[in-house]
Amino acid sequence: MHIHHTIAALRDGLAGARRIVLVPTMGNLHDGHIALMKQAREHGDTVVVTIFVNRLQFRPGEDFENYPRTLAADCERLAAARVDHLFAPDETEMYPAPQQYYVDPPTDLIGILEGEFRPGHFRGVATVVLKLFNIVLPQVALFGKKDYQQMLVLSNMVRDLAFPVEIVAADTVRAADGLALSSRNGYLTPGERAEAPRLHEALSRIVAAIRAGDSDFGALEQAAVAELRDHGWAPNYLSVRRKTDLQLPSAGEADLVVLAAALLGRTRLIDNLEV
Ligand code: PAF
Repeated sequence: MHIHHTIAALRDGLAGARRIVLVPTMGNLHDGHIALMKQAREHGDTVVVTIFVNRLQFRPGEDFENYPRTLAADCERLAAARVDHLFAPDETEMYPAPQQYYVDPPTDLIGILEGEFRPGHFRGVATVVLKLFNIVLPQVALFGKKDYQQMLVLSNMVRDLAFPVEIVAADTVRAADGLALSSRNGYLTPGERAEAPRLHEALSRIVAAIRAGDSDFGALEQAAVAELRDHGWAPNYLSVRRKTDLQLPSAGEADLVVLAAALLGRTRLIDNLEV
């Protein structure tokens, strides 16, 4: 695996590369990321991974400073997964001057759910991802469905800005007990880790109820929120939404996704399930 820390070195390394598949990450790689790398190989010839903890998508008081940075261990996992190139820039390489140009996704999509609780987050994500696209010039890019709203923001961005990249949405990878894999799971205490699968269980029950014909989404959401609260969670949102734009569904709509974010102790977990 070739490791590059500068844009110039990466571009040199990619000169002449055929069908480039990009997997952008913030590092601290887990099995969910590695599944993405393996899937990436099926979509092209040259797999490029980026590791960059992007300050622009964190709000003051969030975990930017403490976000786990584990480059040496990540490199070993990437090499074992037969990734071709790793781009791991430092902050001055990505932001040599304060960033003044931003991608501004539409409020309809980023003012809700995650965006309501993390204002500015998707603006930061869209900006860094567009910048990574310009640096790597991939034909394909993979994003996990665990960050469902992020995946939609980015798919709509490439469509609206006619960026010539195909976005592939990869299924969420889960632990045996259902917990969606996430770098932030590492923040959980052993007791919280034992409790954490309840979020996925709550979403699964809602999906099962909707599939069985229950259309009282409000009641299903309230019951799930109450259950989480009873077990010490502080839910931010738990909501049945239309898959295509994450707005509230009209009666009879079938293309749905249930999304949730909740704090367990000091750790904020997000998850979703398509119906
Ligand atoms: O999902 C992530 O890890 C980040 O939001 C991304 C897409 C790498 C942008 O920093």
